[in-house]
Amino acid sequence: MNSKQSLPSQLGKSVDKSPFNAQEALLKVMQPPKGSGIILGRSNRSKDSLSNLAYVGQVIESTVGRSYLGTGLWLDIDFPHVIYISGTRGSGKSFDLGVLIEGISALVEPSVIQHSVTPQCSILLDMQNQFWTLAYEPRANIPENAQQLDELKAWKLAANRLADCQVFIPKVTEPFTNTEHVFSLSASDVLPEEWCALIDQSLYSPQGHVIAACVERFGDDRYSLGDMIRFIESDANLQGTAEATRNAVVYKLRDIDRTQLFSRDGLNVQSLLHPGRCNIFMIRDLRNEDKAIVASIIARQLFRIMGQHHARRKVKAFFDEDGDESTLPNKVWLFIDEAHIVAPNDRPSPAREALVEYVKRGRDAGLSLVLATQQPSAIDDRILSQVNLSFNHRLTFQSDISAAVNRVPTKTLSSLKLAGATISDFGDMLRLLDAGECFIGDHSTSRAIISAIRPRITSHGGYNPS
Ligand SMILES: Nc1ncnc2c1ncn2[C@@H]1O[C@H](COP(=O)(O)OP(=O)(O)O)[C@@H](O)[C@H]1O
Ligand SMILES: [Mg+2]
Repeated sequence: MNSKQSLPSQLGKSVDKSPFNAQEALLKVMQPPKGSGIILGRSNRSKDSLSNLAYVGQVIESTVGRSYLGTGLWLDIDFPHVIYISGTRGSGKSFDLGVLIEGISALVEPSVIQHSVTPQCSILLDMQNQFWTLAYEPRANIPENAQQLDELKAWKLAANRLADCQVFIPKVTEPFTNTEHVFSLSASDVLPEEWCALIDQSLYSPQGHVIAACVERFGDDRYSLGDMIRFIESDANLQGTAEATRNAVVYKLRDIDRTQLFSRDGLNVQSLLHPGRCNIFMIRDLRNEDKAIVASIIARQLFRIMGQHHARRKVKAFFDEDGDESTLPNKVWLFIDEAHIVAPNDRPSPAREALVEYVKRGRDAGLSLVLATQQPSAIDDRILSQVNLSFNHRLTFQSDISAAVNRVPTKTLSSLKLAGATISDFGDMLRLLDAGECFIGDHSTSRAIISAIRPRITSHGGYNPS
């Protein structure tokens, strides 16, 4: 599989001139042993391998000293990553998520964007119901897609589509392609603190106590929200708790039940995990607190299932036992668009705790996380301290710029010449970027590089069929 000795160099628009003249040399980048290309997100350890690389774009700065203008950017997808994408609305964040998903998923046709890639599994939380188009090639009859097809030609890339793309919607959402699966969450997968977040109470409040006692009583059984309500309503249970408290909890749980998001036998995360498959959860129509519970349950279960899977593999390898009969993939990616919705830092969020655990310990379980947000200041620092790769698109507000810059896992650029002017403030540089342009910051690179993200090979959504 790894017979290709160098990365293709004929990709991209072959720019030979750039308006961006970086005044600080690029002292260190990771390059393949032969030919051109820059490898992102890889440690020295596997520096010479050319397998599992996904093409994400190209360098668009000219640089004092050695210039890499036009060089292809290839993301390592072997090592689990925590990737952070920030930018204002319309700057290209969701587009990047699509580009990354194309790079790791099974495609219908072989594509040069995947260099010796073993397809991986992903779960995407789609806050705007726009990613279902990953399953389709761009269509010339749609103006947005027609432009995309021109871009693809300029970049010498062919249209493609995902081979295994499953779309999930909650009951409240109208199906629109009729290929969607309706999903719900198992009430028994929700933690007491998550119910408390949904009813806006602390776990240590009287109402929180009612929830905790109820969940404890059910133990390992599977139960529905209706079962919980019946338990709390019954006079025989929870004696010593004020009736008004019980009534308040019941009232709120009934309200939650109306969303039809919870059931006795809901989502089984393990059933989503197949190599090469992308699972899209279109959750635009859920309330924000419900979106956070979806994120929390998926992150926790992924962590548990994949942690056990890798622990079993390690033991087998240690004792030199034969193959792993499990059909689970060895690597799974969780993509969260509009991540500030599920991991805000200004209020308690169970999803935030789940994601902190996921990034801190997920690498050993083969888990990657990709977060995109327009509010960089809103994401928990414990998550951002684990970021090893950042895509910084255009930002305008100083508070967001400061927050985003703090989390670039390498140095920022100190000086840039553009149209005769010299700019030395990184925030001012970020303000200049167009949609699809960004600074890519990588552990193994001496500083962030001005880059253009390649066009999407699958249809770019963002509109709904009428
Ligand atoms: N790499 C890119 N190449 C070409 N066009 C892009 C690129 N990134 C973004 N765009 C354009 O910008 C628009 C907004 O991008 P999008 O990713 O939806 O923004 P965001 O998620 O940041 O709000 C897209 O619909 C597309 O037209
Ligand atoms: Mg978006």
